[in-house]
Amino acid sequence: MSQTPANHPNKFYVTTPIYYINDRPHIGHAYSTIAADTLARYWRGQLGPENVLFSTGTDENSKKTIEAAKEAGRDVSAYTDHMAEIWKTTWDKLDITYDDFIRTSESRHAQAAQHFIQKIFDAGDISKGTYEGPYCFRCEAFYKEDELIEGEGGQKDCCPVHKKPVEVVSEENYFFDLPKYAGRVRQAIETGELEIKPEARRNEVLSFIDQGLDKISISRANQDIGIPLPFDPDQRTYVWVEALINYLTVAGYPEAGYEEWWANVTHIVGKDIIKFHCIIWPALLLSAGLTLPRRVFAHGFFTINGEKISKSLGNAIDPLELTAQYGIDPLRYYLLREIPFGADGNFSTERFAEVYTSELANTIGNLVQRVATFDAKHFDGKFLLNQTILDEKNADNQLLINQPLEALDFHKALFHVVAIASQANVRLADDAPWKTIKEDTDQARLAIETAVTSIIELGSTARYFLPNTAEKIVATFHDGRVNLDVGLLFPRIEAERADG
Ligand code: MSP
Repeated sequence: MSQTPANHPNKFYVTTPIYYINDRPHIGHAYSTIAADTLARYWRGQLGPENVLFSTGTDENSKKTIEAAKEAGRDVSAYTDHMAEIWKTTWDKLDITYDDFIRTSESRHAQAAQHFIQKIFDAGDISKGTYEGPYCFRCEAFYKEDELIEGEGGQKDCCPVHKKPVEVVSEENYFFDLPKYAGRVRQAIETGELEIKPEARRNEVLSFIDQGLDKISISRANQDIGIPLPFDPDQRTYVWVEALINYLTVAGYPEAGYEEWWANVTHIVGKDIIKFHCIIWPALLLSAGLTLPRRVFAHGFFTINGEKISKSLGNAIDPLELTAQYGIDPLRYYLLREIPFGADGNFSTERFAEVYTSELANTIGNLVQRVATFDAKHFDGKFLLNQTILDEKNADNQLLINQPLEALDFHKALFHVVAIASQANVRLADDAPWKTIKEDTDQARLAIETAVTSIIELGSTARYFLPNTAEKIVATFHDGRVNLDVGLLFPRIEAERADG
């Protein structure tokens, strides 16, 4: 079913997770961000740019920020300024069209977060208690004893994600009454008031709720970083609680007007953080008297050559390394096309090169190049388009491409985009204008103009996914004239020399 704005007539708000600042962006982070960017570009086309809000940013108030700053020999604010710039520049270089880049160290965020937490306090949902238990600051997450595992070096009581020893925290904290909202959150998920996609993740969330929820600690004592609780400044807000509130800060909360965006927000997240987004966040919102997010989409994870992407394994690939060699659109294409959004998959540079050559250079690039040069040579670079055919194709694409795109099925939508090029290639081979040109110029012209029509259609449907390619297509076939100066869409990439 299409998600067209039935209950969100004119605004669309899409968010990425805000990324921890102690590390540099890798292709996993680029995945969430490129997906959100594609969606934002699409909705801007449908609703007008002023009706779309796309946010990303950095999660800075974590203990690991302090550790990383120490390691880098810098003070915390110089370190976070430096790292935030790296994240921002990376997204700029990948043509990410975010409308807002939020840093949780900004004062607008502290204000919004404190306002929100005060509401929860006023609702009577926060109480003081003693927290005693394992905590992993690398995850910024609390664990239960039975979730701990043996570490790689044989150490006992390690975090299941990082396989490093956890800290045992014992301190007075404030707790949020999560169980109070379990029923309401469950109901919202079941009725679709809060849509969780894909289905498997939705079921996972429901089963977490059914296993029973505990009150959660929402503050830390004795911490040097973080937003002070408004009702007890000696305690700092637990970083996850405050990080989630970034989505409201960006919308302008608590100032009037934020509701317009909030009424139709889509959170794009990785599957690793669904408990936070699909249980804790909705419960906090209900407690504060706000409406729930419209939709949470949890995508899968990329591994690299079968292994988890991790700083300690040293296998993280900087997206800018790939784009320096191949250009931006190929990375966008590969990430969204290689695996269905929601499933896990593998990233390999060999496979990336293969996809570049077969699907981009050979299928799309060659088509455009062949048609443009043939037209320039035989028809003086002129062509006429059949607008009726183009209109019909646009109507078909509404169904084939826009509909899956609105449902965040980028993989399927892109399949249909490339199919336009594949079908045009087949048709061109059948029509063989290079043969017919010798005896029947009109027939050859018709074949070429049919191909140009498909290419224009391709450019128009590709523009949300492959913005630079779409622009080049328009520049190559503009105003009834072919312009060969635009150059190749996907030039041949020389294999990297073994001797470096
Ligand atoms: N700071 C929290 C999020 C707070 S949101 C209110 C956080 N940050 S993170 O830097 O660890 O980024 C996590 C997100 O990055 C994942 O949820 C996912 O969107 C993306 N990815 C990180 N590694 C990934 C892969 N290997 N593959 C796909 N996406 C990945 O958690």
